[in-house]
Amino acid sequence: MSRLTVLVTRELPAPVLQQARAAFELKLWPHDEPIGAQLLPWAQGCEGLLVMATDRLDAVTLQQLPPSVRALSTYSVGHDHIDLDTATRRGIPVFNTPDVLSDAVAETALLLMLSAARDAATAEATLRGGGWGPWSPTRFLGQQLTGRRLGLYGMGRIGLGIARRAQGFGLQVHYHNRTVHPCATGFTYHASLDALMAHSDVFCVCAPSTPQTRGAITAARLALLPRGAVFVNIARGDLVDEDALIDAIASGQVGGAGLDVYRNEPELDPRFLQLPRTTLLPHIGSATHEARNGMGRLAVEALQGVLLDGVRPAHCLNPDAFTRAPERTR
Ligand code: DGY
Repeated sequence: MSRLTVLVTRELPAPVLQQARAAFELKLWPHDEPIGAQLLPWAQGCEGLLVMATDRLDAVTLQQLPPSVRALSTYSVGHDHIDLDTATRRGIPVFNTPDVLSDAVAETALLLMLSAARDAATAEATLRGGGWGPWSPTRFLGQQLTGRRLGLYGMGRIGLGIARRAQGFGLQVHYHNRTVHPCATGFTYHASLDALMAHSDVFCVCAPSTPQTRGAITAARLALLPRGAVFVNIARGDLVDEDALIDAIASGQVGGAGLDVYRNEPELDPRFLQLPRTTLLPHIGSATHEARNGMGRLAVEALQGVLLDGVRPAHCLNPDAFTRAPERTR
């Protein structure tokens, strides 16, 4: 019997590819550039798609997918690149990869917080550039985190992971979320983002990108932070007005910034490179062997569940798609 075919839009870690090859015929996009408009021709003859956060599955693209496509896994927890309504109407269940990357992303948030507070980026660049000089009581001074208030915008699995780790560093955790998180005991809830920002010596964006959160970090809100606050973003760049953030860092309103995500990745606004007290990472939040293997396992298992085992795997973002399947063949 012929095997079902899955399009994989980027090279994956070896154990993940091995698992996927054991279950499916793979059509593997071989290039380092995102598949872009080639996704549609490459999806011909495929029953499943395994895509990346860099692939845009908007309404137009989803409508044009061949009728053979019956399941879609994204190798990410974020799913702002996929039009779920259209996928649902087409009867295509969509799966993401939560939980397995929460530790890695939370660790990245702490890495950025510490680096931004101490301006490790400048210190290291100075050393690499030969400018270390004699030890000095007044050079390379930063902010200590102990006792400061950490404001988390978003209290999902990743937010909770950051909060618990931050407690170990002696930070007092505050957060804003749509609702009070039942597990967030010992943390201070703020009903509004404005109130949270006014109480954040260290502020971390860890909310998903949704129509409600996009652009939420405005110039007016950055002005609410206590002067010199540390700003961290490990979520998505489009939550933040980057012009306003750049101005806030340049003026000292933001006293240190640690960024893993940007509006127009990988086209970084060049002004970021000129900013002082700023640590810039290239969207590596989930980049550990453990997380990336776990993400692959979940993504492949979801496709196996739908396409081979006839079950409804966990982490389905649009369960209604299962009841809309007939529309797929129109
Ligand atoms: C995610 O999983 O959403 C990460 O940001 C990688 O894209």
